[in-house]
Amino acid sequence: MDNILVVDDERNVRALLSRVLAQDQTEIHGAGTGKEGLQMADEVSPDVVLLDLRLPDVDGMDVLRTLKNRYPEIAVIIITGYGQIQSAVEAMKAGATDYLEKPFEHLEKLKLAVSRALEEVRAKREIRRLHGLQEKQYRVDQLVGESESTRKLRELIGKLARSEAQTILIHGESGTGKELVARGLHYESVRRDFPFMEVNCAAITETLFESELFGHEKGAFTDAKAAKKGLMELADRGTLFLDEVSEMSPNSQAKFLRSLQERVFRRVGGTRDIKVDVRITAATNRPLEARVKEGVFREDLFYRLNVIPIHIPPLRERKEDIMPLARHFLRESAMRSHKSFKGFTLEAERLMLGYPWPGNVRELRNLIERLVILGTSEYIEPQHLPVQFAAQAVELPREVSSAQELRTLAEVERAYINQVMQRVEANKSKAAKILGISRQTLRKKLMEG
Ligand SMILES: Nc1ncnc2c1ncn2[C@@H]1O[C@H](COP(=O)(O)OP(=O)(O)OP(=O)(O)O)[C@@H](O)[C@H]1O
Ligand SMILES: [Mg+2]
Repeated sequence: MDNILVVDDERNVRALLSRVLAQDQTEIHGAGTGKEGLQMADEVSPDVVLLDLRLPDVDGMDVLRTLKNRYPEIAVIIITGYGQIQSAVEAMKAGATDYLEKPFEHLEKLKLAVSRALEEVRAKREIRRLHGLQEKQYRVDQLVGESESTRKLRELIGKLARSEAQTILIHGESGTGKELVARGLHYESVRRDFPFMEVNCAAITETLFESELFGHEKGAFTDAKAAKKGLMELADRGTLFLDEVSEMSPNSQAKFLRSLQERVFRRVGGTRDIKVDVRITAATNRPLEARVKEGVFREDLFYRLNVIPIHIPPLRERKEDIMPLARHFLRESAMRSHKSFKGFTLEAERLMLGYPWPGNVRELRNLIERLVILGTSEYIEPQHLPVQFAAQAVELPREVSSAQELRTLAEVERAYINQVMQRVEANKSKAAKILGISRQTLRKKLMEG
């Protein structure tokens, strides 16, 4: 929706402009003083401002400068009285887009100036988008991993991003990368220069949900001192990300259903239907089907959301991703903390591959960050890893699956000793007993290793 703000102290000028410029999907706000105008601009973030240079409280030129300063992208059209051409020229120098002389004799000219200004704003946004592009494209490369499922996921994101897909549902355990995928879908798509807005359905109260999502009109409730746009409206032409959608309350589900079907809603306290073009991406840890069976999630809403389902498997089901991710996070963290790390020893790698990663990629990332912060050696070794890694590996009988994994007896011995040491929390007597060697031998071997 285009937003136009008229700042003029003459009520009939404001009324005239509202009438002439009124159009579907255009919202027109009015302000009678400079102060009010600036306040209004903060509130409604207009695309175009029509500004009278002669205002009762402050100089219109000051208002112009403040506006351009705060919102360089806004187009400002100056309204001048007859014979004020000199100040109009000055205003153009200060960044105004155009000027119009009062009284408005040619209404067509007025409309044309406004539609040009709107175009200018769009063009500026496009330029900004192109500037930001490089940085944003990088985001999708951030989806690291060599497993079949991650490769497919990257492909799917590319395809969906280019498609007209309106509703996408992402499912995966906590920490599998749902948010990363949701952002990737947005920044890969043509929607990228429009907002990515997000709301966590588990964190928001039922009463807040409606006004947060749909916005409210002035006076809709006691605290509503001014009208406010909701996330749906702010995300127009972009993406709305509904995180933890399974936790949406029954009431909110009912309210959300209609807007999801038609992309039409009303602000709280409003009477006007607002239509938006928003892609809705929802994420959930819990399978929504199960929530439907439990009777806590509406079946009709589930079907509306589940148009394009994306499942992200847990990390333990895509082991090929573990080491590429680990190396990626190691590089990243090392760079940030100005340390140099070469990688992981084979044994550390083996332990990492055997671990089930209940916290998925997030757990892996946190672990690596910790290792980098605490670490002093160039390689991450088994003894750096938490004890539960060794416990898991010792119990798992394992097969050597590639030549790369073949190691010398000395390496195997050292690794095994390390595991046992971790298991017994470095109690040498206990370790020696388990290993069937004397404490002296153990001490010697530990010094060698
Ligand atoms: N394939 C990946 N490549 C690189 N980083 C990843 C990948 N998957 C996840 N991450 C990183 O792991 C962390 C967790 O990911 P994210 O927040 O997207 O998970 P989530 O599924 O939304 O988790 P939750 O359900 O707990 O909200 C983030 O730091 C994210 O950048
Ligand atoms: Mg998340």
